Amino acid sequence: MVDQNNNLMDKIVALAKRRGFIYPGSEIYGGLAGIWDYGPVGVELKRNLKNMWWKSMVQIREDIVGIDAAIMMNPRVWEASGHVEAFTDPLVECRIDHERLRADHEDEIKAHEKKHHPGKSDWTEPQKFNLLVKAYLGVIEGKQQEIFLRGEITQGVHVNFKNVVDSTRIRIPFGIAQIGKAFRNEITPGNFTFRSREFEQMEVQYFVKPDEKDSLKTFEYWKKYWMDWYIKLGISKDKLKFKDHAPDERAHYARAATDIEYQAPWGWAEFMGVHHRGDWDLSRHQQYSSKEMKYKDPETGEEYIPWDIESSMGVDRSALFFLIDAYSENKGRVILKLHPQLAPYKAAVFPLLANKPELVEKAKKIHLDLKKDFMVAWDERGNIGKRYASQDEIGTPFCITVDFQTLEDETVTVRDRDTAKQERAEINQLRNFINDRINNHQTD
Ligand code: GAP
Repeated sequence: MVDQNNNLMDKIVALAKRRGFIYPGSEIYGGLAGIWDYGPVGVELKRNLKNMWWKSMVQIREDIVGIDAAIMMNPRVWEASGHVEAFTDPLVECRIDHERLRADHEDEIKAHEKKHHPGKSDWTEPQKFNLLVKAYLGVIEGKQQEIFLRGEITQGVHVNFKNVVDSTRIRIPFGIAQIGKAFRNEITPGNFTFRSREFEQMEVQYFVKPDEKDSLKTFEYWKKYWMDWYIKLGISKDKLKFKDHAPDERAHYARAATDIEYQAPWGWAEFMGVHHRGDWDLSRHQQYSSKEMKYKDPETGEEYIPWDIESSMGVDRSALFFLIDAYSENKGRVILKLHPQLAPYKAAVFPLLANKPELVEKAKKIHLDLKKDFMVAWDERGNIGKRYASQDEIGTPFCITVDFQTLEDETVTVRDRDTAKQERAEINQLRNFINDRINNHQTD
């Protein structure tokens, strides 16, 4: 089973590289540990995921607004947020070969010993290792300001809390959503993009009135919301579960925390987290900046520092789990059964024969027309079977073929990725056809 699962990850990593989802970062120079680049189809998958998320949070809802804060922040932010002091993982160093690993990752420690010096185990005591990545700003050598690349995107919301309240009509309870890059000096990046050193997060900080019972209701609401959201977008229900954090497992800011975990090929792994941050962040920023962070209820005049129920998920980690979950093989052929909303291309257009100009011309016209509304691929290489196989591998839900009948009756063949069934559709109905299938797609 373990081998089978390793094998699955090997296949996914190979597919990702071969088809242009994900490449090792700066590969021609030997790469950089924990850093990945996205190729032409990978960027579409990530973009679709972020767009779906933004639509669910900011576009459709009345109670959430979005922001886009800077990656670089005044270093005081990270003192106030507690990250300078407490954003640490326990690090141990092997005294034999000086490899550094996380003390709480026992399986990695055992694997290291077995591989490099069987029967010997000689590790230093665990030390706290801070994950913030340092950078230097300024133009005068020796006088540059040491700053941190943000370790979570969250603080950009908290430092702008007052700005958002003052510049919008939003009233508590409300959320502030954000998508952006975060950076962590992870001790052991690994499992492909699962634990990277540069990654994107999507977060909502949802602010509520301080009230134990009501805030826990909101906490439960978001837990269920995200579980349903991922299932609706196609993640297998039986591969998801909640994991509540015990008090000693929680981050320094959390009063309560639950992860949604995914049954990854290497075991249950954190997908995303819902965290009850209480008033930790706003209170600390009030204290460190001496700027008032209270919210004033416009109707009752009540003043308080709101509590924050955070939903936080990784874009890259989600994309990886969507890839893993969508991966299937049929008679040795790979079919990526991504939800059509997430699929990099919604359709592909082919002329049945590449050497028949009338077919090519007609197919090109359809391709250009559909491209105004969707990402649509084009392929005229090889035979139709090979083109279907190639689109299946990147998860394209529909393949549209222009054949000789098209020239007579303005219809095309549409072949469905998941059922391999073919049907005829009118050219002038293709846009509706694709929209309808994307929007009404049922996941198993
Ligand atoms: N603002 C809260 C926060 O950042 P977290 O549990 O440290 O909480 C939230 O991170 C999510 O960000 C994780 O559930 C995961 O999806 C993603 N994430 C965290 N560290 C990551 C890493 N090194 N590589 C990829 N994704 C990561």
